Amino acid sequence: MGFLSVLSMAHKWIAERTLPGDTVIDATAGGGVDTLALAELVGPKGRVYAFDIQQSALDRTHERLAPLAESSRLPDVQLLLQDHATMSGAVEPVDRGHIAAIMFNLGYLPGGDESVITQPKTTIDALQASLTLLRAGGIVTCVLYPGHPGGEQEAAAVEDWAAGLPQNIAQAVIYRQLQRKTAPYVISIEKRR
Ligand SMILES: C[S@@+](CC[C@H](N)C(=O)[O-])C[C@H]1O[C@@H](n2cnc3c(N)ncnc32)[C@H](O)[C@@H]1O
Repeated sequence: MGFLSVLSMAHKWIAERTLPGDTVIDATAGGGVDTLALAELVGPKGRVYAFDIQQSALDRTHERLAPLAESSRLPDVQLLLQDHATMSGAVEPVDRGHIAAIMFNLGYLPGGDESVITQPKTTIDALQASLTLLRAGGIVTCVLYPGHPGGEQEAAAVEDWAAGLPQNIAQAVIYRQLQRKTAPYVISIEKRR
């Protein structure tokens, strides 16, 4: 049968903690696969903020959401051409401290410009901001790609950051195949109640 893929595990962890009508964030919209999954989870009464620094990624995401829009199942989706490190200011005050889930899928846009890639400093800034935006019991998932150029350093920075979080603030876990050092893996952080 095999274990779940890291992306499926991230989606499962989020689905277990997100309800229709919730507000969620896709910190790296890319091709829109994750934004679509989040939009389906929160439904037409929910809200999704989706960040990317490439207009082509937001265009792809917009296209991927079209079937939901056509069937009136689209939540309020805000596609933001912004660095995710700025997410605190981009999220409306009413949503701050009430976000159910924040998803990071790091690296570059497959089939796009592979030189545009997430960076350790802005990733950590965005993760730090995520903790203040989440509600108690809310979750951050971060899919890491140590096999990409620069990916190993970024993954190590995220691991160090998550491992250093005080346990009374958040609980951090890791899901990783042990035999393949360069395989993607996922870290998840649940904010304490
Ligand atoms: C692996 S892709 C995301 C895949 C996407 N979640 C999906 O479902 O298709 C990573 C994306 O992060 C974006 N990105 C890179 N640096 C960023 C930043 N500082 N803020 C927001 N997005 C960024 C890239 O442009 C790229 O589209």
